[in-house]
Amino acid sequence: MVLLDGKLLSDNIKSELAAEVDILRERGGKIPHLAAVLVGENPASQVYVNSKIKSCEQVGFKSTMIRRPAETTEAELLEIVQGLNNDPDVDGFIVQLPLPKHINEEKITLAIDHRKDVDGFHPVNFGRMAQGLPAFLPATPYGIIEMLRRYNIETAGKHCVVVGRSNIVGTPISILLSRKGYPGDCTVTLTHSRTRDLPGEVRRADIVVAAIGIPNFIQGDWVKEGAVVIDVGINRIEDESRKSGTRLVGDVDFEAVAPKCSHITPVPGGVGLMTVTALLMNTLKACRKEVYA
Ligand code: GUN
Repeated sequence: MVLLDGKLLSDNIKSELAAEVDILRERGGKIPHLAAVLVGENPASQVYVNSKIKSCEQVGFKSTMIRRPAETTEAELLEIVQGLNNDPDVDGFIVQLPLPKHINEEKITLAIDHRKDVDGFHPVNFGRMAQGLPAFLPATPYGIIEMLRRYNIETAGKHCVVVGRSNIVGTPISILLSRKGYPGDCTVTLTHSRTRDLPGEVRRADIVVAAIGIPNFIQGDWVKEGAVVIDVGINRIEDESRKSGTRLVGDVDFEAVAPKCSHITPVPGGVGLMTVTALLMNTLKACRKEVYA
């Protein structure tokens, strides 16, 4: 069994990005600049946004963090988005989700200029991705694709079962893995809460992508011998043996599943780190105008 090491891969990619920044700096080119907007006090969101800003610093990107209280109105947030859309120094930006309940997330996502939408959440990017046109890919699916590529995992003709149909992971990764080329050319089954016989579907998979958000959901006897298992879950559960009283687990029962796999991602240390790195890759593409001229 091979552990798909998100830390090693993201460190490698970050070194490559840092080298690109050095070249840009030597040539007097523009340094990539990512802005992140965080509204409210959601603890997980604070951790994610801090990690995005820290990663920018590691590779030499410019970053701007915009923090606003939970009481911020939708109109105020729309104004911040417009400001970032119009700021020529900002190459790409994200508005961290979830937003406080009184703010319509769809309205905010639609207000972001798709040319700066390095999260790949805007329907223009989603639609272009689905049609195989150049687009900003959503960070988690992009990170998974990059992981499969860099570990040379065969995908053509493989049966991939995706568990979970969210707009930001399950649905886009099912599209990306079914499209022509590498990594891709999979036969994809997209499963969800209404799927009949989920264990039976997962048992047919050569590649499993678990993105359902339920701790330790995928059981040992659901996974075919030699399967590749990509665990997207980041779930905090109680663990009294830890000083903090909690620990992070994925959507896969790692202890039971790992011995059966050819490859598996750990949690933490797998897909999560690749997600942040994929955001950096998108920001460089935005700065270089590789997706939109
Ligand atoms: N919330 C959970 N994941 C994400 C993400 O990738 N981007 C943003 N903006 N919010 C999130």
